[in-house]
Amino acid sequence: MDFQTDKASLKIIRNKKLEYELPFLWIRDNCSCNDCRIQETKEKRFMLNSIPADLKPKKISINEDALNVIWPDEHETIIRFQDLELLKKSRKPEKILWTNDFIPNNYDWSDFLTDDCVAIDAFSEFIAKGAICISNSPCILNSLEDLAPRLGPIREVLFERIHNVSVDGHIYNIAHTSLEVPPHNDFASYSWPPSVQALHMLENECDGGKSMIVDGYKVLSDLKNDHPEFFKILTTFSVPFREFDEENETFANEPIIRLNSSNEIIGLRYSNQLMQMIDPSKKNLDTFYKAYHELCKRVNDKKYKSTFRLEAGNILLVSAHRVLHGREEFKPSGKRHLQDAYYELDNIENNLVLYKELRGN
Ligand SMILES: [Fe+2]
Ligand SMILES: [Zn+2]
Repeated sequence: MDFQTDKASLKIIRNKKLEYELPFLWIRDNCSCNDCRIQETKEKRFMLNSIPADLKPKKISINEDALNVIWPDEHETIIRFQDLELLKKSRKPEKILWTNDFIPNNYDWSDFLTDDCVAIDAFSEFIAKGAICISNSPCILNSLEDLAPRLGPIREVLFERIHNVSVDGHIYNIAHTSLEVPPHNDFASYSWPPSVQALHMLENECDGGKSMIVDGYKVLSDLKNDHPEFFKILTTFSVPFREFDEENETFANEPIIRLNSSNEIIGLRYSNQLMQMIDPSKKNLDTFYKAYHELCKRVNDKKYKSTFRLEAGNILLVSAHRVLHGREEFKPSGKRHLQDAYYELDNIENNLVLYKELRGN
């Protein structure tokens, strides 16, 4: 274990290999001593602007476990290497992409709500695959409210807190007819659409109407491989989406693909029914349409569509910025009543971390 310094950073070398390069400002900013943290909350108290930008250590020493720095004002900072190793671990389970042979795992309603181990399994599966089923749920109106202690609070949008989907209720969307509903995510007309959706089947006595889901991230990663230029324009070209009725108005103008700062796909926004007319004076409209045509072909290709029948008492839970849902046409010969509610993926991802911590793993 050895180190070198340059103008603004400390290099830690193990077996002649550079292991960490730590800017001095980073070291000072991450001091975890009692003066630099709020003891009760572990929050940071130290303010970076309280030191000069060209701060340098007065003395440095290291051993196998930790780095020890004394600053010009005699303040001492200790950084433990095991804490740095923890930073390399992802907080979330790895994503596993799928095509049409995928069937969501099933979890029993009361086990999911009462047994933390089942919830940990279900959340891990949900974050990896983007879809799970919860079976044996009560066929009672608004039971989706009872998932909130597990999933985090309901994300409300306009229209209803718990949405009713049937042919004899309030009709403002294709889902309220018996027509096929092509794969889509809901409320593309919000700049931040709900990131988790629960679809709760209360009654399903109709022929047809099988549910379908599509792993949007799989579609997009294949599109990126095959047509990188199409992929690219879909990340930058904004598209208007609107959902409305006499009393409600929702509208967003956003690109179809959302990337994070590492260029990873973190959102697909796709709704044939909500997409609006694009201003034809917009630049690159022709290129966008070629790319969009290819995307539409793929989203609706049976290669990607997992289909299954959602029986009464089943809840389909989807990671809604990733997994598109739809249903086949049905014959309105009997009763069919579905309720939808929305939640946020952040809360589920963080509940998984919390539950694992509480169980000590
Ligand atoms: Fe929908
Ligand atoms: Zn300190």
